[in-house]
Amino acid sequence: MAKLLLIDDEADVLYSFRRIFDSPEIELSTAGSGEDGLKLIPRLKPDLVISDIRMSGLTGLETLRRIREMDPKLPVILMTAYGTTQTAIEAMKLGAFDYILKPFDVPKLRQLVANALKAARDMKQVVTYQPLLESEDYDLGIVGRSDPMQQVFKLIGQLAASDATALITGESGTGKELVARAIYSHSRRSEQPFLAINCAAIPEQLLESELFGHERGAFTGAALQRIGKFEQCSGGTVFLDEIGDMTPATQTKILRVLQSGTFERVGGNQPIKVDVRIIAATNKPLEQAVAARQFREDLFYRLNVVRVHLPPLRERREDIRLLVNYFLRKFARDTGGHPRSITGDALEWLERYAWPGNVRELENVMQRAHVISKGDAILAADLPPEVRGETRGPAAPEGPSTATSAGPALSAPPAADSGPAEISTLSARLFHIARQDRTLKVIPAVERSLIIEALRETRGNQVQAAKLLGITRATLRKRIEKFKIRQEVSVQ
Ligand SMILES: Nc1ncnc2c1ncn2[C@@H]1O[C@H](COP(=O)(O)OP(=O)(O)OP(=O)(O)O)[C@@H](O)[C@H]1O
Ligand SMILES: [Mg+2]
Repeated sequence: MAKLLLIDDEADVLYSFRRIFDSPEIELSTAGSGEDGLKLIPRLKPDLVISDIRMSGLTGLETLRRIREMDPKLPVILMTAYGTTQTAIEAMKLGAFDYILKPFDVPKLRQLVANALKAARDMKQVVTYQPLLESEDYDLGIVGRSDPMQQVFKLIGQLAASDATALITGESGTGKELVARAIYSHSRRSEQPFLAINCAAIPEQLLESELFGHERGAFTGAALQRIGKFEQCSGGTVFLDEIGDMTPATQTKILRVLQSGTFERVGGNQPIKVDVRIIAATNKPLEQAVAARQFREDLFYRLNVVRVHLPPLRERREDIRLLVNYFLRKFARDTGGHPRSITGDALEWLERYAWPGNVRELENVMQRAHVISKGDAILAADLPPEVRGETRGPAAPEGPSTATSAGPALSAPPAADSGPAEISTLSARLFHIARQDRTLKVIPAVERSLIIEALRETRGNQVQAAKLLGITRATLRKRIEKFKIRQEVSVQ
């Protein structure tokens, strides 16, 4: 039987736990405060503690910290109604097993408890996280409540507590640099320098000298000795952005720093010892560069020790609303006014758009809307046309002179789909499915499924379904017959 200790000052949470974990395999004990919980632990010897974060008296984080001191191997799950970045990072940094947002999803909670109990059983000697001094910098400004972002926050916390090399991947504008800075500012190197170097922005010949410095006369123009970033950053953290754009010579030197902590200045032969942590980022798939022999495989594995992947914004749409709110408040603070509100349909467009430029694009769109909106609220009309599902080119309200020398443009209008990037993601996923099931014919299968869905959504109304699908009603009828859809959906 597993012993579970729940610490919470709300009676109804205690009550619902009693109902959820009413099982012969679990013995549930409860404490109404962090102080009481801590007193109970030595006597009770629980296998798992679940604690609320916001409590009167000792907070959940403080309780967690003291539990870690008492018994670093006892797993602790924290519960919070406030899914802020900060608590997530702090909790993971202090060595929480995990945290869960309130109101909780019962199957998820059960699963989490089962995982924690299993971990407590078979990993008694699990690595403990070093409790670190709390940093003053609480305003990290990473917004996100979606599952993938919660995972990212947990990783940031774990990485902050270690000195491991990390590779941050994700499309442009997904927040890679923000994450690198968050890891740094929560790490024990936070008092030491953080230097960011964009490997793609510095000309190839200069990058090596920029990073490692050079000796006087090392090459034409090297009139003076120069100290590179690695030496300047001793004891600190170097953020190598766009790491995929490095020459082989520089890659070799970076690998050596990672392996032995030493390098030589360009043109020098004195090995120099440095203690720097490397965080790298890339928006290009490094695996491909490795396959094409443009990137050293051994370096790739060294960097890839811990990978933090930031999913594109279109794959975490539930964060859009939060980000919109966050940016509106931020711009208001910057300009000293009140935050603008936003109309429902403007928000709907924002939530639907594919965001090829990710959070950066959303930030720019919100900034523009904040500036051009006339009243108190941002309207759909304050958003750029592409966000509103229109094409970029004006639909000729300005006059008849739209015919340009680009002749075929008239017969082939630009694609009107608002989410080409998203559709391409979907296509990639479909091909993945098709590769696993060789009998699947992608186009007919997708067509059939789209028609069934459209009929379902419109409750069998063919006129509306055809409109939704972007085909004529006659075509829809033919397809319904062809795919024998009648049996499945009652078509009126
Ligand atoms: N989760 C987030 N919460 C708040 N702001 C965010 C978030 N993600 C990104 N941003 C903002 O979006 C902008 C782009 O972020 P960042 O520079 O970290 O992206 P990146 O992935 O490094 O992009 P690139 O690959 O183009 O360099 C920044 O202004 C950053 O503050
Ligand atoms: Mg960047």
